[in-house]
Amino acid sequence: MKLTQYIFILFFIATLTKSYSQGAYQTETPTQKAERMQWYTDARFGMFIHWGAYSVLDGEYKGKKQRGPLGEWIMQNLTIPIEDYKKDVVGNFNPTKFDADAWAKSAYDAGMKYMVMTTKHHDGFALFQSDVSDYNIVAQTPFGRDVIKELSEACKKYGLKFGVYYSQAQDWYHAGGYTPKKRWDKKQEGDWDSYFETIVKGQVTELFSNYGEISLIWWDSARKVQNNDLANAIGRELVKLQPNIIVNPRLSTTSQMDFQTFEQVIPGVFEKEYNELCLTQNRSWSYKPSDTLWKEPAFLLKTLTHMTSIGGNFLFNVGPKSNGEFPKQAKEALEYIGEWMAINNEAIYETEKSPFYKLPFGEATMRQMDDKSIIYLHIYDWPSSGMLEIKGLHNASVSASVLGGSSTLKVEQNNNRLQISGLPKEAPHDAVSVIKLEISEPLKIDYGYIQPSEDRSILLNPENALLTIKPQFDCIPEVAYDGDEPYFRNWQNCIPGRIDTGNQAHWKVNVTEKGDYKVVAKLSTRADGNFAMIKVNKPVHTKLPNTGGLDVYQTLDLGTLSLKKGVNTITFSGQKKKAWDNVQLKTIRLIKL
Ligand code: GLC
Repeated sequence: MKLTQYIFILFFIATLTKSYSQGAYQTETPTQKAERMQWYTDARFGMFIHWGAYSVLDGEYKGKKQRGPLGEWIMQNLTIPIEDYKKDVVGNFNPTKFDADAWAKSAYDAGMKYMVMTTKHHDGFALFQSDVSDYNIVAQTPFGRDVIKELSEACKKYGLKFGVYYSQAQDWYHAGGYTPKKRWDKKQEGDWDSYFETIVKGQVTELFSNYGEISLIWWDSARKVQNNDLANAIGRELVKLQPNIIVNPRLSTTSQMDFQTFEQVIPGVFEKEYNELCLTQNRSWSYKPSDTLWKEPAFLLKTLTHMTSIGGNFLFNVGPKSNGEFPKQAKEALEYIGEWMAINNEAIYETEKSPFYKLPFGEATMRQMDDKSIIYLHIYDWPSSGMLEIKGLHNASVSASVLGGSSTLKVEQNNNRLQISGLPKEAPHDAVSVIKLEISEPLKIDYGYIQPSEDRSILLNPENALLTIKPQFDCIPEVAYDGDEPYFRNWQNCIPGRIDTGNQAHWKVNVTEKGDYKVVAKLSTRADGNFAMIKVNKPVHTKLPNTGGLDVYQTLDLGTLSLKKGVNTITFSGQKKKAWDNVQLKTIRLIKL
């Protein structure tokens, strides 16, 4: 064999090995992975449940108030000794109104297709019968029932895939478990590896063996994992018990994963395939009545349609009360979304992401079949003119209807714009109305990336930005107008002392000339000490001056970006770890050097 042949074979083997390890701990091709992930990508919508002994407390214990917002963290936040927690919290956990059927039914009625349930959170207390540790609901509480058994069966009854959340890195009860702060109880002393080998391996084996099919495992706190190699090795062994299981990315900091997790941050763009947003309705994951920052049902519905339109899943969190009932706000939101789903679910399930970069009135999903394509327009701003225009869809043979409506709409191509007219005056739904476009010929779509202008510069502004937002703190940037110039309003930090708002603006630009571009921004600030971050790959940070108030705009140099030919995603945000007050951004211009 010639040397070149050897090299070819080596190269071939290398490519093969690479494409054969796509999934988490599985040896499979991308196609096999896509098949394993199929139910999950079809589903789009699931219920996260954070429920445990901690649901008994409301951010307070023995007169001391918890500082952090997360109810399930109270034991650590107030460094409650193990015996006290066991007696006062676990001992009082008696959810007499728990009804697994009712929980599964409300997820099903909301249009959800899967559930991920906390089986053991950081406090170490298990909600299932366990021979590995008697720190569990059956052995320790007056209630004495195996909640995981009842829920897994109820989910099966309603056709919901059942997934388990399990805190493997942190455990504040079992000896050796990780505690993020210094250990506060002698009983916590111990070796993490032996904790992992006995408690984690033992309990997850129980979960994977005693409850029928487990469709998903949601590990937590990977950043705190102590021994990546051990965790990965055991993780690999465990999935053999549930070979079709989908694995989240938090087993270890080096683990392979099936999807990316976005926690409390609603993404505007994805870098990789398979993505899931998990979001609470207020701030805490677990029930905490004093936490009253509830998100509106309409906002949550739009979060679902947005996630679907960018091709991701939405895992919506419910924190049931300690008696087993869902909070009123959760019930209302689930019913609201369920009513919408009853009419519009075909615009969600089994759909692909939007074929358009950005639509001025809302978002879109799509479905491609052998003989036709369907585009669903999710309309947030219903036109009072009775007419809607779409740029970039060049097909002529299109029929349009309102989902849940009876009349057919008129569709015409006019100057490269698809015009849909004859829309009802009133929006069919107060938050998201859906128009279905059926196209019975090959699609002719121009995605609509941002293009360089005639002078070769590239103009980025709030109108053509895709936003990543952190809705948690009620400080979501909005597009406002100064005359007809758009700018971002309310891009600020609402939590005193917090350094990063979590908000980002992204632009997808189709670059024709590769090379260096100077970044010039027009913005206003009212304080010193803000840092701007702009990146395409490597972030560039620039300290911003106080421009003299939010009405006073300055044109500032934010450095240089190196762009490749083709599509580049450019991101702008406040720099982490530095103060970010309120910045109003009007434009960013990229000028070819
Ligand atoms: C964080 C929190 C935890 C919560 C989880 C959900 O890891 O520590 O309390 O369960 O996020 O994503």
